[in-house]
Amino acid sequence: MVGGGQLARMTHEAGIPLGIRFRVLSETPQDAAAQVAGEVVVGDHRDLATLRAFARGCDVITFDHEHVPTEHLRALEADGIPVRPGPDALVHAQDKGLMRARLTALGVECPRHRIVTDPADVERFATAEAGGFPVVLKTVRGGYDGRGVWVVRSAAEAREPFRAGVPVLAEEKVDFTRELAANVVRSPHGQAVAYPVVESVQVGGVCDTVIAPAPGLPEASALHAQRLALRIAAELGVTGHLAVELFETADGRILVNELAMRPHNSGHWTQDGAVTSQFANHLRAVLDLPLGDPRPRARWTVMANVLGGDFPDMYPAFLHCMARDPRLKIHMYGKDVKPGRKVGHVTTYGDDLADVRERARHAADYLRGTIDE
Ligand SMILES: Nc1ncnc2c1ncn2[C@@H]1O[C@H](COP(=O)(O)OP(=O)(O)OP(=O)(O)O)[C@@H](O)[C@H]1O
Ligand SMILES: [Mg+2]
Repeated sequence: MVGGGQLARMTHEAGIPLGIRFRVLSETPQDAAAQVAGEVVVGDHRDLATLRAFARGCDVITFDHEHVPTEHLRALEADGIPVRPGPDALVHAQDKGLMRARLTALGVECPRHRIVTDPADVERFATAEAGGFPVVLKTVRGGYDGRGVWVVRSAAEAREPFRAGVPVLAEEKVDFTRELAANVVRSPHGQAVAYPVVESVQVGGVCDTVIAPAPGLPEASALHAQRLALRIAAELGVTGHLAVELFETADGRILVNELAMRPHNSGHWTQDGAVTSQFANHLRAVLDLPLGDPRPRARWTVMANVLGGDFPDMYPAFLHCMARDPRLKIHMYGKDVKPGRKVGHVTTYGDDLADVRERARHAADYLRGTIDE
């Protein structure tokens, strides 16, 4: 797996029972996956020679992030290394402009959008195409966790996104009632599974809580979202896990926000809440093994991210959280704590949604150190 973050750490964990030898290409020896994986190569994923040396002897290459240049992936394929997902699919998770163009061509409903050239062009887009400010600006490549996304209220506010020298995509600001995610996994054989559609709550552009399944989502909407994700996976030729981030509007429409072709934060709940986790199914898919059952184990499962706060010693926090909720599962990534950085997550489950949410919220806040009851 290219990338040594928490997704690689948890994918590695899912491979242990299968006896998979898991090699990780990590930026530093301290990265979340580099701390635990059996074979760690430290190097730059943007350097082709590094990638080639890393890939030698691997049966298949997969990813923990979207940042490997497309031409390098083609070079690895030309070397005879299976790359999953392949570059022609992955590019739609790497480049938001290409993703919008392809989904629109497939007839998939997206926010109104176009590539903009400068702040004056943003103003033209806002007034002529998006029904006025505010609009959302995104650098087409390189963003994550809300970095690379701006909500702007005027042309004057629209200067910052152009500074990086990367093409900028403008979108109408969708007045959504909530965000959903449809997670599917597809194998090279063409077998696919769909997880229950979840609600994902973002705070400051970062995923905060995920509720599985999305409460109150009409069955027709859930089926529509699952079918949409399966169709996108098939049309784009995705292998592995595909997360389709969605907006639900008050009039019941479902629009696609973006795609991720790797395990995704909106699927972390599956570690403890589904028969087969997204990590296990991603591995099975990239190895072209039969996929596992995606169905939920409990009526409700809630995942809450633990953001970097102030916890020098985890032991007292574990003591409290585990004692308070025996159904709680804690997943920490071994990362250095920086304010706002995702350093772990918790899951818990049960029959009463309000109670499950409260237990997850409490544990995440306690681990972060924002409460000390
Ligand atoms: N067109 C839009 N209208 C309204 N809100 C939007 C729009 N696009 C993005 N957002 C908000 O900004 C968040 C981040 O946007 P997006 O998912 O495109 O960025 P990202 O940084 O690539 O994402 P991630 O956090 O998944 O890595 C979305 O989850 C949503 O809350
Ligand atoms: Mg997103």
